[in-house]
Amino acid sequence: WAVFAEDVDAILALKRERNAVVLAHNYQTPEIFHGVADIVGDSLLLAREATKVDADIIVLAGVHFMAETAKLLNPEKTVLIPDLGAGCSLAESITAEDVQLMRQRYPGVPVVTYVNTSAAVKAASDICCTSGNALKVVESLGAERVIMLPDEYLAQNIASQTNVKIIAWKGHCEVHELFTASDVRQLRENHPDVTILAHPECPPEVVAEADFSGSTAAMSDFVGKQRPPRVVLLTECSMSDNVAVLHPDIEFIRPCNLCPHMKRITLKNIRDALEAGRHEVTIDPAIAAPARRAVERMLAL
Ligand code: 13P
Ligand code: SF4
Repeated sequence: WAVFAEDVDAILALKRERNAVVLAHNYQTPEIFHGVADIVGDSLLLAREATKVDADIIVLAGVHFMAETAKLLNPEKTVLIPDLGAGCSLAESITAEDVQLMRQRYPGVPVVTYVNTSAAVKAASDICCTSGNALKVVESLGAERVIMLPDEYLAQNIASQTNVKIIAWKGHCEVHELFTASDVRQLRENHPDVTILAHPECPPEVVAEADFSGSTAAMSDFVGKQRPPRVVLLTECSMSDNVAVLHPDIEFIRPCNLCPHMKRITLKNIRDALEAGRHEVTIDPAIAAPARRAVERMLAL
């Protein structure tokens, strides 16, 4: 921790001076997650909490779509992302034009869009969802069929839990698509008593062989409540690091994959963001209004 002390102290002072808060996703490194964040959580919690912030500046320690969501919910506040290159393979997999083509192909079928998308894609959708509420959102529409974009595996994992027919897109998370069912079997062979948790962005055959699947917050809750002696979180690497700090008595076995986008955020660029007021997230007002509606409709559920 000593190597981080100077940046952590500077960030804490800057937050006070500038009346700023740091919202950090569960995939941020421990020095950010435990050292400087005011609010930590999954995408759903970060969106919910963003509606309650009364600071002037929000620094989003996470990826660009998360900062855009915070800005949609706080049009009057300054929202900063420390590195503009912090993207997401799911957000890259679809455009607003693609959503319109899906609507033409399936007229009248509602469009549920994962929050891991650009504001323009959200604006072309009826409602957003996160991995924490996707089933609830899909079933809330009272429709026989729903278009669910852009994560094919999340869509398939939700389809296995509902009678609603799901029409999917071909987007994948570059981190979670790497886990395989044979990884799960190997883990069980090597550690017979292990409890395996998988994020729903993992392929369906991985989720089927896991003991539990849920959002990053749901995985963290599961560990805290069930207290398995040995656990594997099939997700991004920092997740285990952050949860393990809270539960020193639990053994975390760590096959994990790094998200290169999440890892672009560092203490150094959070400090720079606060010092220089960069990089400010802006959204075209013509896109922001319908995108906000899709996010707010989700939050109202
Ligand atoms: P959560 O909403 O579960 O935190 O997931 C966000 C994400 O980017 C997972 O890859
Ligand atoms: Fe996107 Fe996957 Fe990274 Fe999450 S882990 S931000 S879904 S690329």
